[in-house]
Amino acid sequence: MTIPDHQSTAPGSRRLTRVVRGTPASDGAGVKLNRVIGTQQVPDIDPFLMLDEFRSDNANDYIAGFPDHPHRGFETVTYMLAGRMRHADNHGHSGLMEAGSVQWMTAGRGIIHSEMPEQENGLMAGFQLWINLPARLKMSAPRYQEFPATAMPLVTPAPGVTVKLIAGELEGRTGPVSGIATQPLYWDISLAAGTDWRAPVPATHQAFIYVFEGGVRAGPADSRHDLQQGQMAVLGQGDHLELQGGNEGARLLLIAGLPLGEPVARYGPFVMNTQQEIHQAFTDYQNGRF
Ligand code: CO
Repeated sequence: MTIPDHQSTAPGSRRLTRVVRGTPASDGAGVKLNRVIGTQQVPDIDPFLMLDEFRSDNANDYIAGFPDHPHRGFETVTYMLAGRMRHADNHGHSGLMEAGSVQWMTAGRGIIHSEMPEQENGLMAGFQLWINLPARLKMSAPRYQEFPATAMPLVTPAPGVTVKLIAGELEGRTGPVSGIATQPLYWDISLAAGTDWRAPVPATHQAFIYVFEGGVRAGPADSRHDLQQGQMAVLGQGDHLELQGGNEGARLLLIAGLPLGEPVARYGPFVMNTQQEIHQAFTDYQNGRF
């Protein structure tokens, strides 16, 4: 395993190097969402290219969905908190994403798919994360890993702390998503009010947290930050993160992965290493080679 020069593997308590709020955005056929990564403020956190949160009980905000669109060169991870989304691609793969489920799609050399709400009212909530692929896997065959809520282990590493493991290992348990190049952690953490927990995060990994309910205090004792619902923090170097649930407790994502340290050429749903490869992606897409 190679670690890019700018990465340290030193132990220690990770600091919060950046705290931001998402930006309202619209994507697909007009779905309203909160873009947390992939903005002018935070273009990416290698290997993470984008994080969107969708959360609305107004059907007008989501009903148009994400009709047919391509992806090449990276992975999309959809984590549903509420509602139902129907997925279908141009290779005959389809399925229903329900509350609590995860779809980890390695787009590789390319798919064309749609992601459409399968409800006309009620709450629709969840996340879509884009994770880059290393150059050697950008043109690999597409692959899906799909799991219902019941497939994800719930770990209680300390009283008042519950961690739903989507990917990565904690206390001898492992999330069901496997064989991903960036060796990601994808954890949904619930913290009761006032609860302290020291979350182990491999020192080799780039990491961030995103608070989606309540509030949390995070970072070492001499440099703590209060984060509220809707705030994301990029973590500095170290091998753990100190967390404390706020007055109402908190629910947050902790996501980490090995940085790739490779050049990124990006245009919409194509993420490659060079402009030439982006051009090739357009040509292949237009000629029905996805
Ligand atoms: Co898509």
